[in-house]
Amino acid sequence: MKLIMVLAVAVSIILGCVHRPNIYAPRRTPSAEHQAAKTTAACLGCHDVGKFPHHDRDDDCFSCHKLCKGC
Ligand code: HEC
Ligand code: HEC
Repeated sequence: MKLIMVLAVAVSIILGCVHRPNIYAPRRTPSAEHQAAKTTAACLGCHDVGKFPHHDRDDDCFSCHKLCKGC
C-alpha cells in the first residue's frame, strides 16, 4: 500500500515537470496580429524561435502560448 502511494507521488511529480513549461509560457497579447495568426508558420514570420532557449521550429506554438483574453 505504501509503495503505491510513493509511486503515485513520484508519477505526479514527473508529469508536473513535463507539463510545467506550459504554465510558465507567456500568453500572446490580444493584438490584431496575434488574433489573426492561426498557424505555427504565421508565428515564425515574426518570432525567430531559433534564438529562444527550449524552442524549436516544429513546435506547436498554440499548445503553450494561449491568447490572453483578459488583457
Ligand atoms: C505580425 C507579427 C507577429 C505575429 C504573426 C505573431 N507575433 Fe507574437 N508578438 C509580436 C510582437 C510585436 C510582440 C511584442 C508586443 C506584444 O506583446 O504585443 C509579440 C509578443 C508575443 C509574446 C509575448 C512575449 C513576452 O515576452 O511576453 C508571445 C508569447 C508571442 N508573441 C507568441 C506568438 C505566437 C505563438 C504567435 C503565433 C500564433 C505569434 N506570436 C504571432 C508580433 C507577432
Ligand atoms: C512546450 C511549451 C512551448 C512551446 C511549444 C512554445 N513555447 Fe514559446 N515559450 C515557452 C516558455 C515556457 C517561454 C518563457 C521562457 C523562455 O523564454 O524560454 C516561452 C517564450 C516565448 C516567447 C518570448 C521570448 C522572449 O524572449 O521574450 C515567444 C515570442 C515565444 N515563446 C514564441 C513561441 C513560438 C512562435 C512558438 C512556436 C514555434 C513557441 N513559442 C512554442 C513555452 C513554449
